[in-house]
Amino acid sequence: MKAVEANNLHKTFTSKKESVEAVKGVSFSVEQGEVFSILGPNGAGKSTTILMLTTLLGISKGTASIMGLDVEKQDKEVRTKIGVALQDTGIDLLLTARELLYTTGRLWGLNKQESNLRTEELLQLVGLTESADRRVKTYSGGMKRRLDLGLSLVNEPEVLFLDEPTTGLDPASRRVIWDEIKRLNNNGVTVILTTQYLEEADELSDRLLIIDKGVVATEGTSDELKASVGGDVVTFDFEKEENVEVAKRLIDNAKVNQKQLRITVENGAEHIPIFMKTFTENKLNVKSVSANKPTLDDVFLKVTGFSMENDNQSEKKQSKKSNYEKRGRRIRR
Ligand SMILES: Nc1ncnc2c1ncn2[C@@H]1O[C@H](COP(=O)(O)OP(=O)(O)O)[C@@H](O)[C@H]1O
Ligand SMILES: [Mg+2]
Repeated sequence: MKAVEANNLHKTFTSKKESVEAVKGVSFSVEQGEVFSILGPNGAGKSTTILMLTTLLGISKGTASIMGLDVEKQDKEVRTKIGVALQDTGIDLLLTARELLYTTGRLWGLNKQESNLRTEELLQLVGLTESADRRVKTYSGGMKRRLDLGLSLVNEPEVLFLDEPTTGLDPASRRVIWDEIKRLNNNGVTVILTTQYLEEADELSDRLLIIDKGVVATEGTSDELKASVGGDVVTFDFEKEENVEVAKRLIDNAKVNQKQLRITVENGAEHIPIFMKTFTENKLNVKSVSANKPTLDDVFLKVTGFSMENDNQSEKKQSKKSNYEKRGRRIRR
């Protein structure tokens, strides 16, 4: 049995003025025990997909199941199997973390004693025991996201949905959430998360789905997707920077990128000695060389025709988002 199956999901939002096709035929499945990422730029349809899968939004067309249960016909049973942490949470900022967790436990049908026990367990799990009696409005962004995560775990879900769990967090808080996601997954929880961060998808997911403008652009493991771009990128630095132009003329399809020579070939590591021989024969001393797989940004560029890296740069002009967030979205090469 699959943890999640989505078949040709569609969502159209209609108002008097217009109708928006937010999701246009998205299909995928997630195995039990996987971490599965849905990656895509703002407005791609990630949240809409998550809302439909978690019974919180009607499906316009198509079908979905969670642990073999039909999302529309068996919505009550589905809700007992899943945990959800949404992008825009409606948590009551005037309450404390302990109060919120306890109340949520009671809503899930735990008795007072059980709910107290579960509250203490979860506070420990998400590292909020020390701050459990502070009002949530005094929490940092990272603490709030950890509480969201805690709240989504009250009913001991088998399948956990996290909509952009680290957006807006600084790198250290992001790392804490990543570790928690990994730990939950090691304990057998299937995780479906959405993200705009390429490195997050890369670090956490067993498999990932790239969506853009409501449709699936591609799907696979990070390695498969990168391999689909073709080959490795071999990068040379020369002791004398001006030699890069001379070197370029000696190798087919070599490109100069900021004083480095870049060559895309199959089996980059095997080619390095051959390139080195050519350069040595021509008295071009190499300072450093590396062979790297294409990044997820190269994949994104290939399947959508634009780079998330560039998108993030254009976003800088208009966005009020934190520097951390912009930095996180950039790809480290
Ligand atoms: N309730 C809604 N009414 C109308 N349009 C919506 C609504 N929710 C989302 N949309 C639109 O649907 C598209 C996908 O949105 P969303 O699923 O939130 O994308 P993402 O989560 O990938 O950023 C966007 O164009 C968005 O403006
Ligand atoms: Mg969203």
